[in-house]
Amino acid sequence: MNTHLHITAWALAFILFIVAVILHKQGSEKASKIVQMILRLDYLLILYSGGDLIATFFKGDNPYLVEAIIKGLAGVWVIAAMEMTLGKIKDNDSAKAGWIQLVVAFLITIALGFFRLPNGVWFG
Ligand code: HEM
Repeated sequence: MNTHLHITAWALAFILFIVAVILHKQGSEKASKIVQMILRLDYLLILYSGGDLIATFFKGDNPYLVEAIIKGLAGVWVIAAMEMTLGKIKDNDSAKAGWIQLVVAFLITIALGFFRLPNGVWFG
């Protein structure tokens, strides 16, 4: 159902995030800002598709409900970490804490999304 939209949306987010960082490093401030705005619209797609997926776990007595909620929180954390990292880079501040959060939150989403939760497209 919405899994493909969800995966497409967050894969696109990572691409846009990296492109925004690279454009900023190259001094193309305006282009980086535009990419960041598209990235923010893409967050809505991630939240919409993720919200739709999580809704299925609230039906009946789903044994994965708690893990699905943690997965959703970790997903929101990935978005927050992208925003924080990009913001710090643009302010010429240390982005180290942002990058660490991004990696940790991403690993949790991948572990729960692909390897634990039941609606997997690859390991289902
Ligand atoms: C950038 C952030 C995110 C990443 C990297 C991410 C990653 C993933 C991955 C890898 C899957 C497994 C896809 C599959 O089923 O094969 C997945 C599924 C899912 N995601 Fe996300 N996600 C993110 C954001 C969110 C958000 C914000 C929410 C909730 C509001 C959410 C809720 C879910 C749910 C409920 C599933 C279904 C799990 C299942 O039954 O397999 N995700 N996500």
